[in-house]
Amino acid sequence: MKLLKSITLISVSTALLLGAPQENQDAKLQKTIELGNSSSALLLKTLGQNMKAHMEKGGVMDALNFCTAEAYTLTQKVNSELPQGLEVKRISLKYRNPANEPTEDEKKILESFDELSKKGVQLPQYVLKDIDKNTYKYYKPIIIDKEVCLACHGDISKNVELTKAINDKYPQDKALGYNMNDVRGAVLVTIKH
Ligand code: HEC
Repeated sequence: MKLLKSITLISVSTALLLGAPQENQDAKLQKTIELGNSSSALLLKTLGQNMKAHMEKGGVMDALNFCTAEAYTLTQKVNSELPQGLEVKRISLKYRNPANEPTEDEKKILESFDELSKKGVQLPQYVLKDIDKNTYKYYKPIIIDKEVCLACHGDISKNVELTKAINDKYPQDKALGYNMNDVRGAVLVTIKH
């Protein structure tokens, strides 16, 4: 209780010292996180719901056709519905679609997710990196947390038809050989405001 009190005191006095600018900064950061949370959730929900529907309707080949034909355009559609200054996409070190290749700085974040995960660390819901005064990159780790992911990202060598379809569409595919609980990549939200 004593400790809590002194923390409160410290934060009150810091707020007094720094005054309004600090408050504005905190509010902006809070807003940035909210935008990251909502944009990443919208993308994951849109892709997840559609994939589930295709899986139930026509099995793995139907779901694959959906991912191949529509995952990327649906991502762009989600983007067009987001407020100005926001962009959401998926990235991965072992990407299937070359459009989801991370940049050098994004790679470093993904590599740190991998390292932490290999050490048995529970990954955070998101990490936030400020790029400049008005630009932030919000990363939400994507984990292979459902068996269904392995149907197209695990060991698929026994499914000849699926292997061929993936090879045809993505000759440079890197997104195979995953196991449950592996880090698959991240949802990246770039926020300018
Ligand atoms: C029916 C096959 C299928 C299933 C099941 C599937 N994926 Fe994918 N996944 C794909 C395809 C195809 C792409 C490439 C989409 C594109 O062209 O944009 C992809 C792309 C991705 C990407 C973007 C990065 C990249 O490699 O291009 C992530 C992240 C991803 N999948 C995660 C998952 C997760 C997590 C699950 C389980 C919830 C899952 N996938 C289930 C087929 C599948």
